[in-house]
Amino acid sequence: MNLKDKVVVITGAGSGIGAAAAQLFGMQGATVVVSDINLENAQQVVEEITAAGGKAIAIKTDVTKFEEVERLVTDTVKAHDRLDVIVNNAGIGGANQKKTAEHTHEDWHNVIAVNQTGVFYCMQVALRQMTKQGHGNIVNVASLAGLKASGNNLSYSASKFAVVGMTKSAALEYGHKNIRVNAVCPGYTHSALLDQLLSTRDDMGDILKRYIPMRRFGEANEIAEGICWLASDNSKFVTGQTLTLDGGTSL
Ligand code: NAI
Repeated sequence: MNLKDKVVVITGAGSGIGAAAAQLFGMQGATVVVSDINLENAQQVVEEITAAGGKAIAIKTDVTKFEEVERLVTDTVKAHDRLDVIVNNAGIGGANQKKTAEHTHEDWHNVIAVNQTGVFYCMQVALRQMTKQGHGNIVNVASLAGLKASGNNLSYSASKFAVVGMTKSAALEYGHKNIRVNAVCPGYTHSALLDQLLSTRDDMGDILKRYIPMRRFGEANEIAEGICWLASDNSKFVTGQTLTLDGGTSL
């Protein structure tokens, strides 16, 4: 994959899919800005990338705060002159699994703030920089829950359908500016977020696997491969698309 010397920001890169993507970008010769609300985790990922011979820095960012997102991009450009790629990966699942009539307003506001408004803020700030420099590439991390119905988590579903919609609309607006916008839609993938879902009942893992033709959960590095492909020049005629990585669950 052609990612050498690209300046790449990844949000929520302190764990799970974001951390795996940061490591893969690092291995491919990109300069990685590992951003997370949890700075300690982000610094740990930076250490792993640099120990493997890659280039990375950590920046603490809460994607729900517009000023922090602005600072993330400003500091990246100050350090590395440009922003080639942003991977909008930070996301949360919500604290409860409840049907719509019982869905808590707290979960609604928290999930929409991170998964939807956070992606909007990051896209907006990145697009201002990318338009100025004349090129750019945005990869949003949506979900299978952004393509298909999912029960007991309306805010998550709403936020991920929104990410797919924002991806397509921005791709339409910025194609002629040499800026691509795509999304990955992972199915169930091993991470802290999946652990939270699995902890809701003892047999949850078995129940979920019944819906996955490959009968296993994905690994974070398998999703990272899709993210890096969309971020690379290997996919340079692809924009406004969703890449589903789900072991066949959507079938
Ligand atoms: P994770 O919990 O391991 O990673 C999420 C990261 O986001 C954490 O490092 C966390 O500190 C960070 N974060 C949370 N709130 C933040 C905020 N306000 N600002 C900045 N960073 C924040 O979970 P995972 O699975 O790696 O999730 C990554 C993305 O993948 C999310 O957008 C999630 O919705 C999506 N996804 C995950 C699936 C799965 O089964 N694991 C399936 C489909 C989508």
